[in-house]
Amino acid sequence: MLDAHKTEVQLKPSFYSDAAHAGTIALGDLTVNRLGFGAMRLCGDSAWGRRRDRDHPSRVLRRAVELGVNFIDTADSYGPETNELMISEALYPYPSGLVIATKGGLLRPDRRSWVRDGRPDHLRHAVEGSLQRLRLERIDLYQFHAPDPNVPFAESVGALADLQRAGKIRHLGISNVTVAQLELARSIAPIVSVQNEYNLRDQTSEDVLAACEPLGIAFLPWYPLGGTRGLRALKVKQVAMRHGCTHAALSIAWLLAKSPVVLPIPGTRSIDHLEENLRATSLSLTPEDLDDLG
Ligand SMILES: NC(=O)c1ccc[n+]([C@@H]2O[C@H](COP(=O)([O-])OP(=O)(O)OC[C@H]3O[C@@H](n4cnc5c(N)ncnc54)[C@H](OP(=O)(O)O)[C@@H]3O)[C@@H](O)[C@H]2O)c1
Repeated sequence: MLDAHKTEVQLKPSFYSDAAHAGTIALGDLTVNRLGFGAMRLCGDSAWGRRRDRDHPSRVLRRAVELGVNFIDTADSYGPETNELMISEALYPYPSGLVIATKGGLLRPDRRSWVRDGRPDHLRHAVEGSLQRLRLERIDLYQFHAPDPNVPFAESVGALADLQRAGKIRHLGISNVTVAQLELARSIAPIVSVQNEYNLRDQTSEDVLAACEPLGIAFLPWYPLGGTRGLRALKVKQVAMRHGCTHAALSIAWLLAKSPVVLPIPGTRSIDHLEENLRATSLSLTPEDLDDLG
């Protein structure tokens, strides 16, 4: 439960859907509502810097928490660094029960580039930076952002497992991985989550989701709404029309229906869109809907 006394965020009962309607999911010994929030979009375009209205990200983040969102995904590479700062500026001291998941292993030399860096030294430095910016003593979920082709995957995961043993990380996750990489990571340390691209348009990671399911590993689909291109295929529009909801809410409802281990993290910089997206938690898709969506 969130503790409203610890923060300015007020938990108002309202007619809006609440993330708790999505049910819950375990991340190791933590439990969160099964609809999270991806914070990357709160940065400037291309996940670079801040937007002009510096207050706006705080309003979106606080509204998400008011609406029961208690899982927020970020990364040190969003901004870079500014996305984590936005979260601590908006929400610290954190309501109890709020899980902030960050990621490391990508560098941003400029707004167009995402460069993989899985060297143990870099990851150790990255974790310290995230701890500082998020104002935490331990990160609840730290995800290795992407395997680095120049560094053995086991070395990167091993470095994070050492940081976990040192008490800097509570739970480990991995991102942009294959089933073989998931198995290798699991042979080094307990893995509680995997974050790969997955949505109505791209189900390339179906095998990874299938591997997570029996293990109870949370699967966080990135680009749950198809990113900036969106998912506006005719079939999505038609089913959304039947439910009187937006294509975005429908796309999230489809992910929630896909598997109990799926924890969607839709992103938006709009409070209206955030509220709309939470409607997904009260949609029940029928077998006919699922057939039509293919
Ligand atoms: N691990 C990785 O490699 C990786 C890669 C990419 C992303 N991620 C994570 O995944 C999270 C989600 O990804 P994402 O934000 O890139 O993509 P997304 O959630 O699929 O889509 C976000 C886009 O959808 C729009 N949108 C959101 N709600 C909408 C609505 N109700 N109606 C119309 N448009 C709507 C947003 O625009 P508005 O702002 O105008 O609403 C934004 O352009 C990120 O925040 C990040 O945490 C991880």
